[in-house]
Amino acid sequence: MLKITNLSKSFNKDNENRVDIFKNFNIEIEANKCTAIIGPNGCGKSTLLNLISGSILADSGEFILNGKDITKLSEENRAIHIGRVHQDPSLGVSPSLTILENMSLADKKGEGFSLRRLVKKDRIPKYIELLKDLDLGLEDKLDTQVKYLSGGQRQSLSLVMASMKFPDLLLLDEHTAALDPKTSHVVMKKTKELIEKYKMTTIMISHNMKDAIDYSDRVIMLDQGQIILDKASKDLTEEELMDIYRKKLDEHILH
Ligand SMILES: Nc1ncnc2c1ncn2[C@@H]1O[C@H](COP(=O)(O)OP(=O)(O)OP(=O)(O)O)[C@@H](O)[C@H]1O
Ligand SMILES: [Mg+2]
Repeated sequence: MLKITNLSKSFNKDNENRVDIFKNFNIEIEANKCTAIIGPNGCGKSTLLNLISGSILADSGEFILNGKDITKLSEENRAIHIGRVHQDPSLGVSPSLTILENMSLADKKGEGFSLRRLVKKDRIPKYIELLKDLDLGLEDKLDTQVKYLSGGQRQSLSLVMASMKFPDLLLLDEHTAALDPKTSHVVMKKTKELIEKYKMTTIMISHNMKDAIDYSDRVIMLDQGQIILDKASKDLTEEELMDIYRKKLDEHILH
């Protein structure tokens, strides 16, 4: 479980562009479940994931992951416990390295730098097994540089790499947003299978209401850094979410 207490974060504190995005924000993310976070552009979704992964620092607040206080850990040290897939298919993989080298790097996450590029031969069957699960034929392309893969193949590879060390927490930031609808569906299905198979605690950001409901256990809607809806996915409909969205948009236009 991830517990965030009293989180505050402002950007540009010293000038007129100041944004107070989170103020005494609290949230508990359940273990072994997928929590979807939705909300309009700029409501703080990516900032929240960046604060959790440690890629930006909170002004105040506490992050407890599975009972361990990770608040003061650097991004690199948090990455030992946290896997992440970005929206941009070029992030999360090393394009000039092969699939095999990328898998090997992910496998050695948390180890020292010295021998990280050396592929351990006895681990290759494991990589092949994980890639086979994706059903994309990537297991036959182990020596292909990742830059030659399609966006969908890269995002699927990223997903396998982010989850292969069974992180305590998996962060997905609109990881299918750059893909065409069909590929997006395939990657989302694989995502759900992986999360369920390994019971991974996951936070998934999505702009797609249907995906948010279909592929998660719980949906949280943010607006201006605040939780305005928190409900089990099974009790939600797409119409209900769209209604709330529309009301919020109207409010913003009126103010
Ligand atoms: N590094 C930064 N410096 C200044 N302002 C920032 C920074 N990162 C985010 N912001 C601001 O914080 C707010 C929240 O941004 P964030 O990227 O978290 O939104 P989001 O919910 O992920 O939106 P989207 O749906 O467009 O991805 C926005 O007003 C944004 O401009
Ligand atoms: Mg974002």
